[in-house]
Amino acid sequence: MRHPSEIGAAVIGSGFIGTVHIEALRRHGVQVRGLLGSTPERGAASARRLGVPHAYVSLDELLADERVDVVHVTSPNHLHHPQVKQILAAGRHVVCEKPLAMTADESAELVRLAADSGRVNAVNFNIRFYPLNQHVHELVTGGRIGDVRLVSGHYFQDWLLLDTDWNWRLEPDLGGALRAVGDIGSHWLDLIAFTTGLRITEVMADLTTFIPARQQPAGPVETFSTERSAETVVREIGTEDTAVILLRFENGARGTVAISQLSAGRKNSLEYEIDGSTGALAWDSEQPDQLWIGNREAPNEILIRNPALMGAAGQAAAYLPGGHVEGFADTFRALFAAIYADVGASAPSERPTYPTFAEGHDEMLVGDAVAASSRDGRWTRVERGPVAVPTPIHAVGGSAG
Ligand SMILES: NC(=O)c1ccc[n+]([C@@H]2O[C@H](COP(=O)([O-])OP(=O)(O)OC[C@H]3O[C@@H](n4cnc5c(N)ncnc54)[C@H](O)[C@@H]3O)[C@@H](O)[C@H]2O)c1
Repeated sequence: MRHPSEIGAAVIGSGFIGTVHIEALRRHGVQVRGLLGSTPERGAASARRLGVPHAYVSLDELLADERVDVVHVTSPNHLHHPQVKQILAAGRHVVCEKPLAMTADESAELVRLAADSGRVNAVNFNIRFYPLNQHVHELVTGGRIGDVRLVSGHYFQDWLLLDTDWNWRLEPDLGGALRAVGDIGSHWLDLIAFTTGLRITEVMADLTTFIPARQQPAGPVETFSTERSAETVVREIGTEDTAVILLRFENGARGTVAISQLSAGRKNSLEYEIDGSTGALAWDSEQPDQLWIGNREAPNEILIRNPALMGAAGQAAAYLPGGHVEGFADTFRALFAAIYADVGASAPSERPTYPTFAEGHDEMLVGDAVAASSRDGRWTRVERGPVAVPTPIHAVGGSAG
């Protein structure tokens, strides 16, 4: 069993999220050997900025570096499938950003290849790793709120509100056929499947493009950038700005979620409420250290994240004592702790506590059903094919009451 400080990693992409990966790896003492950028020049500039010792000029060069045990894929979506295939073929463990691939056929292939390789495979659904979301999983699957009946919520951002806002996610060839749903809806849908331990079986979706033409800047734009380019070209947009989706779960529960990249003032607002037969739980990503517990016959409660007041999974994900707020970047630390425990053992454990490619693929299947439902205007089943997805989805530790 190797300690993370004896493990070498490399990161593909050094934009918004690649930087967060590198910082979280360093918190564990993982040796970040180098990074790969979109061009050798951009990669070298990022390596200097981030203090990373080497900028690889190609994926071939990266994979020839025998000191690299794990590769983190944080490039734009269209590169995930070809890059992950090459990484697995080279016998390395992989942590891939969401969405796992551009299509469910691609993600199914990656599930098979990862299983054949025997390597650790993880999808970066980091929101599960807010400690209170691990705790909610333990509470719900442990029966604290009885039978899950209704799940509701939203994921709202505002960074694509204006027709001058631009990012590679707006190009279907780079981001995928689903935009708001693929980019942020995927997090909400995965989180709900995780916290409830229930798979989504049917969807009824209404996707809308409110801004059918946008001004694309002449040069590249990094995610969440606020700089405006003077020179632009008008581009037609076919992917959704917003989505409203009705959900049916495998136990008969119902759900509803609204997803938007056009909600002024909402920078990164993910909320959910799970209503059960004996109680309810609600969480808001912009107040991530607070869990609302709804009671019928007693006063409602607010649990302030506190390792001493959570079950094993919540405790394992928590780092700081209560009252010292843990946020977005801390979820990467917690998720990587779970992943690198398996990397240290050189193979996935029987019941990985982190989201695997199988769960990344399941999210792609839900996305396909959302797209088909909106296109056809009817309820649509999630078609789960021959690739088996483990259920229920496991938390970090054992189950608490
Ligand atoms: N888990 C999360 O919370 C989360 C948050 C943001 C983004 N993401 C995901 O991370 C990925 C990257 O998103 P981002 O917001 O960081 O985008 P970004 O545009 O900020 O960064 C993308 C990076 O990839 C690099 N790149 C482009 N082409 C490349 C190539 N051929 N080889 C190597 N690198 C290349 C770019 O230079 C840039 O550094 C996406 O798949 C996105 O869905 C996940």
